[in-house]
Amino acid sequence: MHTVTANNSRTIKGLSLLSLLELDGDVIHDLLQEAEALKKAPVETSLSGKTLAMIFEKSSTRTRVSFEAGMLQLGGHALFLSSRDLQLGRGESIEDTAKVLSAYADAILIRTFEHKKAEELAFHSNVPVINGLTDQFHPCQALADLLTIKELKGTFKGKKAAYMGDGNNVAHSLMIACAKMGMDFALASPEGYGADEAIIKNAQKTARHSGAKLVLTNSPEEAAAEADIIYSDVWTSMGQEEEVLNRLKAFEGFQVNEALMKNAKPDAHFLHCLPAHRGEEVTAAVIDGPNSAVFQQAENRLHVQKALLKMILA
Ligand code: CP
Ligand code: NVA
Repeated sequence: MHTVTANNSRTIKGLSLLSLLELDGDVIHDLLQEAEALKKAPVETSLSGKTLAMIFEKSSTRTRVSFEAGMLQLGGHALFLSSRDLQLGRGESIEDTAKVLSAYADAILIRTFEHKKAEELAFHSNVPVINGLTDQFHPCQALADLLTIKELKGTFKGKKAAYMGDGNNVAHSLMIACAKMGMDFALASPEGYGADEAIIKNAQKTARHSGAKLVLTNSPEEAAAEADIIYSDVWTSMGQEEEVLNRLKAFEGFQVNEALMKNAKPDAHFLHCLPAHRGEEVTAAVIDGPNSAVFQQAENRLHVQKALLKMILA
């Protein structure tokens, strides 16, 4: 069995990353520093001979390509495995898949629906498992968000991120990331679409420890007030397509537009994990405007994930 535990030491060699809750704030600082170094000098051989097996049950552009390119730039190799083509798609168990892939690969990445599946994979795997997005968490995205915020604002303490919309996987991981780094975080979501209670409790505990403020509200203006970062994600995540009409109605008023941006600090930046729906959760004027850093953020997926792979595997 592969260990997934809260980690108080400064090394994460051999550990899985399922939610970001596993990582200590100091480890995240180290990881961001490593990512900055790799951004300046991208090609090395530290993972020579290492293989990353990547299971995808959902579509991906950024996660798939950045992990594949990242492994290559570190001297290793990544395999894209669509669950449709794996025996997993024909009923082979997660347990058997974990044991078999562990024999061939040095780490496994999974993008799946239920978070429990990623946990089960990690439980039965003999190598580290990286969460490439589940319904609950998107930790690699949050690491890229942190690097981008560090580049834009220089620091986390005393800064505020405001997330508008669905209390989903991306919101959960960003909430945890901010709490770990001591950055204030506000989530504005409509009634019934807030974040998971257990994850909120966990983030509150972490925030108390780091001195960060965590605000949950139904008012986008309240959340955006004096924010340094305004963040949004799609209103309908992968797997929720049948709810699209209800969601369009529920999230009316939660769009990030120029009027909402006026509530934030004048130098506030807009972030979005992408893919985005212009005209829904964000207007083209904001996402394509001068204060948007979404492509810098997308690029940073590559750098933080390389740092993560190096710290886990090298
Ligand atoms: N942000 C993100 O994870 O993008 P993909 O779905 O394209 O991987
Ligand atoms: N919340 C979105 C993020 C996509 C990267 C989804 O799960 O579809």
